[in-house]
Amino acid sequence: MTAFDFQAWTALRLAEVEEALSQWVVADAPVDLGDAMRYAVLDGGKRLRPLLVLATCEAVRGNHQAALRAACATELIHAYSLVHDDMPCMDNDLLRRGKPTVHVAFGEATALLAGDALQALAFEILTPEHEDIPAHMQARLCRLLARAAGSSGMAGGQAIDLASVGRALNETQLQAMHDLKTGALLQGSVLMGAACGEVTDEAWQALLAYGAALGLAFQVVDDILDVTADSATLGKTAGKDAANDKPTYVSLLGLERSLAFAQTLYAQAMTALDRCGLEDVRALRALADMVVNRKN
Ligand code: IPE
Ligand code: IPE
Ligand code: MG
Ligand code: MG
Ligand code: MG
Repeated sequence: MTAFDFQAWTALRLAEVEEALSQWVVADAPVDLGDAMRYAVLDGGKRLRPLLVLATCEAVRGNHQAALRAACATELIHAYSLVHDDMPCMDNDLLRRGKPTVHVAFGEATALLAGDALQALAFEILTPEHEDIPAHMQARLCRLLARAAGSSGMAGGQAIDLASVGRALNETQLQAMHDLKTGALLQGSVLMGAACGEVTDEAWQALLAYGAALGLAFQVVDDILDVTADSATLGKTAGKDAANDKPTYVSLLGLERSLAFAQTLYAQAMTALDRCGLEDVRALRALADMVVNRKN
């Protein structure tokens, strides 16, 4: 096999995702709703969830058109979750992706509605009328995304997060919160990529384990970066977890053990890929590396 150029791989997919998002998130909604939606989605973000969808779809040699839609749908759900996460009733943040948060720029009511509308748009994008994506595949993608976003996934995790302010969670409780609020959508992105093709049970189980390890690792690193990075690098306010009295991996285990735990999860993700039986998982390996070694 030729050497894998992850930068080149990423650049091509990011260009495709950016163009699709820009085309699908149109500004023609009433009043300033469309502008707020575009503001929330475009010009920023690492696009990790879309990259996971596309990498997994390629690993299973799936339907690329379906994967591009799934990639954008995961990013719309993610962007909506960030808009709401930043609102005064949740984390009360002023900075996101290097810009004022949506509620600061457009007001709280518009931010709330922009989040709602982005969530709806995600499912509209997954269910095109005239394209070559079988109905059963569309339905499966919707189901996977709904599970990842709803009360058994991101929204459920956010509920636990808010109820845990000022409380000391034990490691089991903290992991359960992180698995839901962040892990579910990342794992869901992997599974949606897989659902764009056909996979053996063995591969599905391995991807499930890869997504779980990577998803948890992502939030452990988010907790670490909140303490170790600065706001300019993060594009969001550093030090917010301690300021908001949130239980995090750093507050529970300390910095050193949190870093070690992220490495353990990285190793778990790699082991899962070892047993997936898919021919080319180099992009998935590189994405796990990026999750653990990122600076923002
Ligand atoms: C931040 O996610 C919110 C969490 C789930 C921890 P990202 O770090 O992926 O944010 P963007 O998309 O790059 O801005
Ligand atoms: C957010 O977790 C998870 C979401 C579902 C948005 P955080 O509250 O830690 O995310 P940041 O640090 O604000 O990006
Ligand atoms: Mg939060
Ligand atoms: Mg937050
Ligand atoms: Mg955080």
